[in-house]
Amino acid sequence: MYVCCCLGVTDRTIRTAIRNGACSVEEVTRCSGAGSRCGACKPEIQSMLSQASDAITSMSPHRHLSMHVEASLDEVGDRTAA
Ligand code: FES
Repeated sequence: MYVCCCLGVTDRTIRTAIRNGACSVEEVTRCSGAGSRCGACKPEIQSMLSQASDAITSMSPHRHLSMHVEASLDEVGDRTAA
């Protein structure tokens, strides 16, 4: 689906930009060109950024668990190195 009609930028391209670290409309524009002409697509880009942010926030308990597991693996590594 086209998000930016001026430059023919799709939702897939914008999601890829967000996945690669773009965390503001300006950064998505820099990466994809979307929003660099009339600007009518900027609210949709902002909405996609907000959805991505919400998804990350909802995953945080798993991320916390993942960090805990990584810390535990570090401890195991320390014990085997000694
Ligand atoms: S629709 Fe994206 S800049 Fe015009």
